[in-house]
This record gives sequence, structure tokens and C-alpha cells, in this order.
Amino acid sequence: MIVETKNNQQVLLRKLHSNDLDNLLSYLENLSMETKKRFGPHQFDKQSVIDFYDNPAIHLGYVAQSIDSNDIIAYSIIKIGYLESDYNRYLSYGIQLDNKIDCEFAPSVADSWQSFGIGNKLFYYILADLKKAGVKRIVLWGGVQADNEKAVNYYKKNNFVPVGQFWHNGENVDMLLNI
Ligand SMILES: CC(C)(COP(=O)(O)OP(=O)(O)OC[C@H]1O[C@@H](n2cnc3c(N)ncnc32)[C@H](O)[C@@H]1OP(=O)(O)O)[C@@H](O)C(=O)NCCC(=O)NCCS
Repeated sequence: MIVETKNNQQVLLRKLHSNDLDNLLSYLENLSMETKKRFGPHQFDKQSVIDFYDNPAIHLGYVAQSIDSNDIIAYSIIKIGYLESDYNRYLSYGIQLDNKIDCEFAPSVADSWQSFGIGNKLFYYILADLKKAGVKRIVLWGGVQADNEKAVNYYKKNNFVPVGQFWHNGENVDMLLNI
């Protein structure tokens, strides 16, 4: 699907393919330290990325690609089911995560493309896909750092609701969306 960003650029939204590996590695390498600090569902070296997508039924990658340059400019990950490390925390809020209906979400946008609407547009695209797959709830991959104002706003804008807070290298917030 091709969409237009707030800076009037045409961008292709699609699933990650196996032949995106080099393009994806260059996207990851070029992220600023600030963004790398916020986004880390897997390590950024080649083998870690290959291993991460070993089971395509569990980890789904989505990208936005610039029509002009072909560069990947946004990358989001869905894990079907929940992370073991999130399960007990959610239980402490009275929410039992369930591999049949839940998924985990981790978004990122290249620094120079942030705040131009790509994060939102890629999320709508992913949402449509998840609805088709019968997913009912989306939780944030390991929560969001409370001082990550851009991301907290982004999740709220997309109707995620805070369900609890926890301490891990600072204050973090767990947020959930019923779809
Ligand atoms: C968080 C992130 C994915 C959002 O994507 P984006 O393309 O920058 O966001 P969008 O332009 O689509 O904006 C969506 C909403 O985010 C919020 N937002 C975006 N830029 C913002 C900014 N500079 N300041 C405050 N809020 C901001 C707004 O609520 C915005 O909605 P609006 O445009 O209707 O006001 C992206 O900024 C990013 O990759 N950040 C670094 C990595 C990260 O923090 N990942 C999440 C880890 S939990």
C-alpha cells in the first residue's frame, strides 16, 4: 500500500521480506543512539536478525520504504502471543495474557522521518493485518519508557491505555489496546 507522509513523500507500506536483510541492517545501523535506546526487540547484527525471523509464524516484520530512495524508513515488529517476561507483570495487574488472542508490538521510525505520520500509517496497516488474523489485543513489547514522550503520545493517539507501571532502568508503562 502506498501512502503520503506529512512531508509529501510517497512511502510503501508492506511486510518485511527475506531479501530486505541488507536494507534492514543499514536502517538499524543508521538509527541514532537515542532511538536505539528506545527500540530493541532484537540485536542489530545480521545473525540476530536472521535468527529472530527463524519462525515466520511468530515474528512478523513490517516496513515503510521510501519510493524515491528504496530505503527502509520505518520498521515495526509483531510477536504473535506474549513474551514470557511480560506475563507475570500483566498478571499482577489482573490481566492474563493469552497466546491465542494477544500479540506484542514494537515500532520504530528512522530519526529523520519521525513525526511525519509514518508511525501512525504503518500502525493502521499492521492493525488491519492483525484483525484479519484474529488477534484481539496488542500489548507493548516490554512496555514503554515513561520519559519517551513521543512514543507515549503515539500509543495514546492510537487508543492504547495504560494498565500498569514498573521500574526497569527507569519508570516504564505497560499499555494495551483491545482491537
Ligand atoms: C514512537 C514512534 C514510533 C512514532 O512514530 P512517528 O512516525 O514519529 O509518529 P507519527 O508522526 O505517526 O505521530 C503519531 C503520534 O505520535 C505523537 N508524536 C509524534 N511526534 C511527536 C513529537 N515530536 N512530540 C510529541 N509527540 C509526538 C503524536 O501523538 C502523534 O500524533 P499526531 O501527529 O496526530 O499529533 C517514532 O517516533 C520512533 O520510532 N521513536 C523512536 C523509537 C521508539 O521510541 N519506539 C517505541 C519504543 S516503546
